[in-house]
Amino acid sequence: EKGGYASFMLKEIAEQPKAVADTLLGRIDETGSLTLDEVRIPADVLREADKVVIVACGTAFHAGLIAKYAIEHWTRIPCEVELASEFRYRDPILDQQTLVIAISQSGETMDTLMALRHAREQGAKVLAICNTNGSTIPRESDAVLYTHAGPEVAVASTKAFLTQLIACYLVALYLGQVRGTKWADEIRAVVRDLSSVPGAVERVLETMEPVRELARSLAEKDTVLFLGRHVGYPVALEGALKLKELAYMHAEGFAAGELKHGPIALIEDDVPVVVVVPSPRGRSVLHDKIVSNIQEIRARGARTIVIAEEGDEAVAPYADHLIRIPATPTLLQPLVATVPLQVFACELATARGNEVDQPRNLAKSVTVE
Ligand code: F6R
Repeated sequence: EKGGYASFMLKEIAEQPKAVADTLLGRIDETGSLTLDEVRIPADVLREADKVVIVACGTAFHAGLIAKYAIEHWTRIPCEVELASEFRYRDPILDQQTLVIAISQSGETMDTLMALRHAREQGAKVLAICNTNGSTIPRESDAVLYTHAGPEVAVASTKAFLTQLIACYLVALYLGQVRGTKWADEIRAVVRDLSSVPGAVERVLETMEPVRELARSLAEKDTVLFLGRHVGYPVALEGALKLKELAYMHAEGFAAGELKHGPIALIEDDVPVVVVVPSPRGRSVLHDKIVSNIQEIRARGARTIVIAEEGDEAVAPYADHLIRIPATPTLLQPLVATVPLQVFACELATARGNEVDQPRNLAKSVTVE
């Protein structure tokens, strides 16, 4: 069943290039336009939407945080992302012009289901992004875009997360296409970039041996911190969540710009800090800022584990460990930057003697609020 892998998690990490390719399949035509027939919400409703609200939990919430950057950049529609468990209790402002996106691998998460029910009661249209055919969340939504990750058995979400990101990018681009924003050329270019993602993820997977070795060497540590900026910030949160749930270690993700507002006090000698570095091309101001963050923490004794694009030489002098990922457009970087963090958490958990497919106290689908 595990196809020769030591765990379902390792198998599912390895399946990511295919999961991504399957989720793109049939949704982009030869001209680079999107054909999302399953989004049954009428085009005029999508054109008139004045706000997008994303609700989700855990890893799916992190996908939503990344989606916000893409949706706002490509469509200029304001987008909020909220933990499903918090959503309905704060009396959120929703109406017929609100498009709610509910993201869920299982389609059975009670917090997410209750959030979408609340949204529909207020007249909002709900689009589900879901990996499980015919599950409750898509059944109760106005439309569904299925991720084609295949069954995910390990409790920790890996391939479902990458396909949730793909689905979010597709929805963002589709909204841009339907609304005819001024980003049309960029949107066409991104559609082309998406088709190279399965190959890029494959290349990351081929270079993971040093990451495994590094993870094993950190098995005795108490804390690992994760830093990122822009879309690298939710990637940092996801890296920390994976480590908590699998390795039972204290792990925290921060926006790198927040360091000096508190977290830098946590930096002490030899504490491992994983830093997700944005591309030096594109929005290079982000890159320069994070390079100085790396210098700051290193000066205070941190052991820097730097995830950076191939060819990014500026960070190399400050990296105690350098993990290379293929060059991607800024907004798509989470698709490749998350993979080493999954491998890192899985290997560290194994080195600590933990059962990676069934972490203590956790269930694959959380059907109570
Ligand atoms: C983390 C993880 C959980 C789920 C969360 C939502 O690895 O698996 O955080 O992402 O419980 O589950 P779904 O996507 O099924 O709604």
